[in-house]
Amino acid sequence: MKRFAKVIGTGGYLPATIRSNEDISKRVDTSDSWIFERTGIKTRRIAGPEETAASMAEIAARQAIEMAGIEAGEIDLIIVATGSPDRVYPSTGCILQHRLEIQQCVAFDVQAACSGSIFAMSIADQYIKSGAADKVLIVGSEICSRLVDWTDRGTCILFGDGAGAVLLESTDEPGVLSTHIHSDGGFEDLLYCPNPQVATASGKDEKGVIHMRGNEVFKVAVNTLGRIVDETLAANNLDKSDVDWLVPHQANTRIIAATARKLKMSMDQVVLTLENQGNTSSASVLLAFNEAVRDGRIKRGQIVLLEAFGAGFTWGSALIKY
Ligand code: COA
Repeated sequence: MKRFAKVIGTGGYLPATIRSNEDISKRVDTSDSWIFERTGIKTRRIAGPEETAASMAEIAARQAIEMAGIEAGEIDLIIVATGSPDRVYPSTGCILQHRLEIQQCVAFDVQAACSGSIFAMSIADQYIKSGAADKVLIVGSEICSRLVDWTDRGTCILFGDGAGAVLLESTDEPGVLSTHIHSDGGFEDLLYCPNPQVATASGKDEKGVIHMRGNEVFKVAVNTLGRIVDETLAANNLDKSDVDWLVPHQANTRIIAATARKLKMSMDQVVLTLENQGNTSSASVLLAFNEAVRDGRIKRGQIVLLEAFGAGFTWGSALIKY
């Protein structure tokens, strides 16, 4: 019998503190209108001092577990996507496992920057399809606000904090139809965040904050995401019109609109959370997916295209029959 991974639960968490474009324009030379016109962002959430990637992941994960109606102890595998882990090690996945009071399962992190949730979903799909796991929890959790240089107007306007979760279970009916993930390390200098301790120890004078050549990233992102749409549809022998929903990584409305145009989709079929969340890196796709599932926009049986692009560069997609 053919095995598929099916979504049985979703969850999401956003910290309470809201930082608006007006707040940022008091720190750096920018304005609400510049930020909104160039990015589509108005506000983003900022984690409290006591919060961590694992603490936020726990809240999102518990919601997904509750929606699925299972016990946490039934989970075989936890994959956390994060670029802002609590510690270098142990992994945030292990910390989350302990917080969920699970003793037996395997837990680890994936680091694929903003594409992390898609990479996690792809790994989960392989584990389920191969029979190596039955129930897999994937979480994207990020405290981007602690990696941002709040004096750099080219980056601090973009990012926010949050966590999203999806619980997948093996089934014999199509769920995840295909995943496609890619990496090209040749673009390291366009978007990176040094590990400050390692940089200092090796004599480099680099701050442990996000460094980005935004305009160049923008152009590669638009082209790359166009190609991943074609690859995904071709692999499934589907037409653009077969896709009911686009759930994109939330980096910039103009990048998202370009992908929607490629799919000949109206923006009404695109799940947008960017305006009030900013770019939450590996959490963004799962947060958007959770929102549209919970408010009833995404319905059982519909075809949903998830896609993301991030540092590395990394990029990928997941086509799901929800
Ligand atoms: N407020 C006002 N002006 C700003 C600004 C800000 N926050 N940030 C940059 N500028 C200025 C620049 O200094 C530049 O001025 P100059 O022409 O005098 O040199 C001008 O605006 C244009 O800069 P540019 O970088 O070309 O702007 P842009 O239209 O590309 O917009 C981003 C900048 C960052 C919004 C955009 O490039 C972007 O979203 N890139 C993708 C980033 C991304 O998605 N990263 C994550 C990938 S997962």
